Amino acid sequence: MKTLKQILLVLICSISLISCKTNSQKKGPIDKELLSHIDKQLTLLVSKSLEGKSIPRTVKDGEIRWSNPNWDWTEGFFPGTLWYLYKTTNDEKWKDAAEQLQAQFEDHKYKTTQHDVGFVFNCSYGNGYRLTKNESFKQVMITAGDSLITRFNPVIKAIQSWDVDKGWQAERGWKFPVIIDNMMNLELLFELSKITGDPKYSKVAIAHANTTLKNHFRDDYSSFHMIDYDPETGNVRSKQTVQGYKNESSWSRGQSWGLYGYTLCYRYTKDEKYLKQAEGIAKYIMNHKNLPADGIPYWDYYAPNIPNEPRDASAAALAASALIELDKYSKENYAPFIDKILTSLSSDKYLAEVGENNFFLLKHSVGSIPHGEEIDVPLNYADYYYIEALIRRSK
Ligand code: GLY
Repeated sequence: MKTLKQILLVLICSISLISCKTNSQKKGPIDKELLSHIDKQLTLLVSKSLEGKSIPRTVKDGEIRWSNPNWDWTEGFFPGTLWYLYKTTNDEKWKDAAEQLQAQFEDHKYKTTQHDVGFVFNCSYGNGYRLTKNESFKQVMITAGDSLITRFNPVIKAIQSWDVDKGWQAERGWKFPVIIDNMMNLELLFELSKITGDPKYSKVAIAHANTTLKNHFRDDYSSFHMIDYDPETGNVRSKQTVQGYKNESSWSRGQSWGLYGYTLCYRYTKDEKYLKQAEGIAKYIMNHKNLPADGIPYWDYYAPNIPNEPRDASAAALAASALIELDKYSKENYAPFIDKILTSLSSDKYLAEVGENNFFLLKHSVGSIPHGEEIDVPLNYADYYYIEALIRRSK
């Protein structure tokens, strides 16, 4: 396997060296040996997953930690990864597994108690629908989208992220928390307006994107994690972090969610202000003084003990995926930075050997340090965005 990874490194590095706007858009299919490596590793994970009809989320105490069957914001990512493998290989085994696993949580399309229903159903049923045009998948997406827009407040002009009447969120004194991650739920809404012809979904998405643009960002394009609003007046009550180091710092995955979110807003609307926002965030990430040379950030750009802090491969994978799309729209050339990230993630440091890492692909991600959860572990969404980035880069 070392040889394979070395070959890939050399390949990507040589491409980076000669990279320019034109050739960044001309790539061959994913390197066959890397694909075979991914295929072998995920075949092992799928087989475990189908045995118990459960969705792998991460690793805890040396064992796979499965998604909570009652609800888990990450449950859409593993079926989504399998849809991507089906897209790349045309092998029906991935399609069958994706269908079986996403069926486990179909009922969650009715959930109106948090915002992540957009994430969950776009990555699973959404990817399935884009590939198969299965009408029943579209109906599931519509129900999920209808659930999501119940959380829109027309005074604030945003979708509420979390309810505040139970769990740890009830202890914080918030009224209407909106986290930057919520930008990712907009893809389901834009997609629904496209496939149904009903503008009600994209109207909500655009209003949410505009409110977030106004309140979440600092002058340098870094973002706060959470804004709490007053639902009666629409005023901002406070700006805080939940998963970052401190309110004024920059939680790494949050910066990547914002980058991805405004890039997708530009994809659907062609509104230049979203392109400018995505370019600004990209610049912030790429030029940050605390970004390590391999392009994989620490969990927060201002984590207190840098360089002795955990990295977050998930933040890097989704930034790479977003930048590949942004590169198509922007005059900037993101190719060298993208290839740096993908080379790092495909190296022995981050990409697990077949049979190791409890069969997840990437090592070294962080869920939430303030919650003391999922520190320096594999995460299903790191793998999802890594594969998405490899597929996008190969186009
Ligand atoms: N949306 C939750 C997270 O990024 O951890």
